[in-house]
Amino acid sequence: MASQQPRKILVTSALPYANGSIHLGHLVEYIQTDIWVRFQKMRGHECWYVCADDTHGTPIMLRAEKEGITPEQLIERVHGEHSRDFAGFLVNFDNYYSTNTPETRECANLIYGRLKDAGLIEVRTIEQYYDPVKEMFLPDRFIKGECPKCGAKDQYGDNCEACGAAYTPNDLKHPYSAVSGAQPVLKNSDHYFFKLSAPQCQEFLRRWTREDGRLQPEAANKMQEWLGAEGENKLTDWDISRDAPYFGFEIPGAPGKYFYVWLDAPIGYMGSFKNLCARQGLNFDEWFKPDSQTELYHFIGKDILYFHALFWPAELAHAGFRTPSRIFAHGFLTVDGAKMSKSRGTFITAESYLAQGLNPEWLRYYFAGKLTNTLEDLDLSLDDFVARVNSDLVGKYVNIASRSAGFISKRFNGQLAPADANLPAIRAIQEAAPRIAELFEAREIGKAMREVMALADGANQYVDSVKPWELAKQEGKETELHAACSNSLNLFRLLTVLLKPVLPGVAEKVEAFLNVAPLTWADAATLLAGGHVIQPYQHLMTRIDPKQVAALVEANKASLAPADASANTAANSAAPAKAAEHSPQRHGEKQQNEAQVAQAAAETGPHISIDDFMKVDLRVAKIVEASHVEGADKLVRLMLDIGEEKPRQVFAGIKAAYDPAQLQGRLTVMVANLAPRKMKFGMSEGMVLAASDPEGKTGGLYILSPDAGAQPGMRIK
Ligand code: 2FM
Ligand code: ZN
Repeated sequence: MASQQPRKILVTSALPYANGSIHLGHLVEYIQTDIWVRFQKMRGHECWYVCADDTHGTPIMLRAEKEGITPEQLIERVHGEHSRDFAGFLVNFDNYYSTNTPETRECANLIYGRLKDAGLIEVRTIEQYYDPVKEMFLPDRFIKGECPKCGAKDQYGDNCEACGAAYTPNDLKHPYSAVSGAQPVLKNSDHYFFKLSAPQCQEFLRRWTREDGRLQPEAANKMQEWLGAEGENKLTDWDISRDAPYFGFEIPGAPGKYFYVWLDAPIGYMGSFKNLCARQGLNFDEWFKPDSQTELYHFIGKDILYFHALFWPAELAHAGFRTPSRIFAHGFLTVDGAKMSKSRGTFITAESYLAQGLNPEWLRYYFAGKLTNTLEDLDLSLDDFVARVNSDLVGKYVNIASRSAGFISKRFNGQLAPADANLPAIRAIQEAAPRIAELFEAREIGKAMREVMALADGANQYVDSVKPWELAKQEGKETELHAACSNSLNLFRLLTVLLKPVLPGVAEKVEAFLNVAPLTWADAATLLAGGHVIQPYQHLMTRIDPKQVAALVEANKASLAPADASANTAANSAAPAKAAEHSPQRHGEKQQNEAQVAQAAAETGPHISIDDFMKVDLRVAKIVEASHVEGADKLVRLMLDIGEEKPRQVFAGIKAAYDPAQLQGRLTVMVANLAPRKMKFGMSEGMVLAASDPEGKTGGLYILSPDAGAQPGMRIK
């Protein structure tokens, strides 16, 4: 079972954004990587697994602002939540760091400086949408408007959820800012570009992407498509800067300009490792120098393949660093054959799974059974999840130990008899172990699990054939009983070695129960010696009750509120593959929400279309001034700030219900596109909304207020 020479392996998973929760879509990747890393460590290799929170960007900045905290406070809190969730699923990073750290800044500056020296950075003026109220340039996902193709309202700046068309924000009709609701204006700004189209980058990438093993075959084909035929120049330069206000690293020598995500997120891999090196006494340069003999692997979702297979290696190679040995991309998670959905309760967070008391190793095993080394999506079928875990883990694997251990403790003082090294079931496992190791190495983890379960079937057949429970009842069968139970426990130990990368928690309990040192892969070639003393059997794993899964889905059913436009999405979610920006997974929820609005209309009066409704421009307004109107019985004069240059004057018939002094400073809702009306007291430039008793009996009037956090000028839909 000798492994090859010890290798030096550095492994990463994609850095999750620091403003969203870890969900089961993310866990496909972290569990896959963790299994692979644990396998490498069991083989005796020096293997380090690093990751970090991806902390920079506009969505994180806006989210913090909305919560009334600093971005640093937000990312610290989320770091705690992410670390807790990963630990809960036994994802064992050697370092879980952050990109907002001196190490990442240092590496980003160094890489940028070297790319600049190599003539690969260029400054260009680009025209981009700017929010005049919020005074910031808007990322594509923060611009909404009408789809240029089908006319659907309220679409994001990069693609239409109604007809699927892809476009740029400049193509949108009637664009508005999703941050303030204001109409964005086009404004020029200098941006920094990485010249991916430069001949040396093209040449390098043509070679690199074709090198043996760097990319999975499907990924390599995709790269050929993106690179185009020889002589063709299909790669475009990559915009690596964003303007202030932005939460990130300011570009050296470029005040007010910040590194955009792809010039700091992957560099976070290096930053995290650098931090680990300092703590472990490792030599960072040995791992990142161009001719490094160490191995570097990135596990990623297929949606960020473009960045990891083109942008990242080109960036590293031209900044004097080594490039990744291989990129391992995986597909997305579906649940019951469909995209994860909040309204169906299948957008399941890691936290809720654990909070419902479900065992993390059930999911680890289920995912393991589905993992391949391709880019294909994988499905979590909830019924199959229950059936597979109960039948494989409890029915086949745990069952072997639970049927034999008690007799060893009660009848033989915990002492084992020598195992029969020629027992076919034992030999089968020992002969299969190198083959299964190859499957783990090749990330064919599903195939490995199927082999292990076939071996568990063989072990169970042995137990069924010797029937310890019957031998125990018969006089004079002590020796047979001792041998049967000892062989069974040896079979169980061997299967535990093969399952340990997937079930590290169970393996630890087994090691305690069998009274052995932590199992390594080499232990698959050995057997427990006769006379070895085990501890009393301890309970290893319960069956899943389908009710637990139903409760989990129920707990994850979201309210039908529209999704949060400020949330970043995760690379490894079920979002569609997209090279340029990430698309939040909100389609299902949005449709559901519109259906609900329609249903409410049916109950209350004749229908209007969503288009009719959208004609009304409702805004959050701040009452900056409220005063009595001389000579008017019912009116109060309001000055309303909706983020425009000067406040609007509105005369509202609310005097019976409100004292103007009470109103000053509060937020309310106004119709901003009502035609101005000339009144006796002056122009009224809009209308505030108020609820009232239809009969007018109480005389009660209630003006509306948005929830805390809403800002003047935000559009209400
Ligand atoms: O797509 C994402 O989820 C980003 N947070 C980037 C992850 S990979 C990286 F850090 F390079
Ligand atoms: Zn459309």
